[in-house]
Amino acid sequence: MININSGMDNKTEVVICLGSSCFARGNKATLKVIEKYLKDNNLHDKVFFHGGHCFGRCTEGPIIKIDDTIHTSVTEVSIVEILNSKFKKI
Ligand code: FES
Repeated sequence: MININSGMDNKTEVVICLGSSCFARGNKATLKVIEKYLKDNNLHDKVFFHGGHCFGRCTEGPIIKIDDTIHTSVTEVSIVEILNSKFKKI
């Protein structure tokens, strides 16, 4: 079987909106929080983290997309809770 997505196999995709609205309203700081979280929790092998263009939902921003789920009004604090619920399932 040919797998065209071999680089992303089994990885969780985390997309941070780097559109000007989301970036200015919080994602600039949230970006650093996510990078630190991935490093501290050794998740770089499990997560494909990258920036994205405006999702067209600026009024609900800042936006972070994790796999198929769009998270709205994300803050430096709430992103940690979101990541914990995704990666530290108890
Ligand atoms: S800038 Fe993020 S949704 Fe538009």
